[in-house]
Amino acid sequence: MTLNESISRGRRDPAIKLHGPEAFAAMRKAGQLTARGLDMLAGEVKPGVTTQRLDDLAFQFAMDNGAYPATLFYRGYTKSICTSVNHVVCHGIPDDKPMREGDIINIDYTLIVDGWHGDSSRMFAVGDIPRKAERLVEITYESLLRGIRATRPGATTGDIGFAIQRYAEGERCSVVRDFCGHGLGQVFHDAPNILHYGSPGEGVELKPGMLFTIEPMINLGKASVKVLSDGWTAVTRDRSLSAQFEHTVGVTDTGCEIFTLSPAGLDNPLAPRP
Ligand code: MF3
Ligand code: CO
Ligand code: CO
Repeated sequence: MTLNESISRGRRDPAIKLHGPEAFAAMRKAGQLTARGLDMLAGEVKPGVTTQRLDDLAFQFAMDNGAYPATLFYRGYTKSICTSVNHVVCHGIPDDKPMREGDIINIDYTLIVDGWHGDSSRMFAVGDIPRKAERLVEITYESLLRGIRATRPGATTGDIGFAIQRYAEGERCSVVRDFCGHGLGQVFHDAPNILHYGSPGEGVELKPGMLFTIEPMINLGKASVKVLSDGWTAVTRDRSLSAQFEHTVGVTDTGCEIFTLSPAGLDNPLAPRP
């Protein structure tokens, strides 16, 4: 979501819900189905395939599994996934343009299962990709992992942002400021905001039972983005490559549970496999 949207939402309802075991069980179910959907889409990302084809498959997967894609008719959006290619930062709209060898694409998928939201995105390579794209994807995945490792009771949202920012900027990349992670559960976008930059100890203290996403967007060039005239597609102003990964997590007594882990081990589809 955009930072402005989430800030205004936060003002209306600053309370952060703390959820119990039933909610965790429901989030596990929603998160697992979302992850299975992304696993299915992984096999469909190839040169010549359109992003609309991916959207059709994502819609069908939801229908076949008793789920609903949260983005479909959300605030005027009319697709089941977001497909963000190369310098598109997020909220790319599926269309009839075929993917091309060398592209990198983020697929962001949110499924509602029994009223609960599983929200996750991953990067995929279209055929062989340039080394610099591979490096950006690796850095972005590691950024998400660092944010997840910082997620535990007593830590703050600023600790998550700091862990991501310190690592990504240390790799000479930049962190997008205009979009953030978000609380979720029976609501798609809720408090708290999870900024992907910040200072230790800042922000909201994490407590067991909090549910939110971590979804860093990392650019090879400068951080600044603009939204195209379609009202959705966010691109890097300098047209540098951008990447993003997203997991939905719940804070536990000792750390956090990742609800959207891939059953097939495809969380980072570019990772070398044995
Ligand atoms: N799934 C996105 C997120 O991570 C939200 C997409 S909203 C849409 O928060 F309307 F652009 F689809
Ligand atoms: Co999200
Ligand atoms: Co998402």
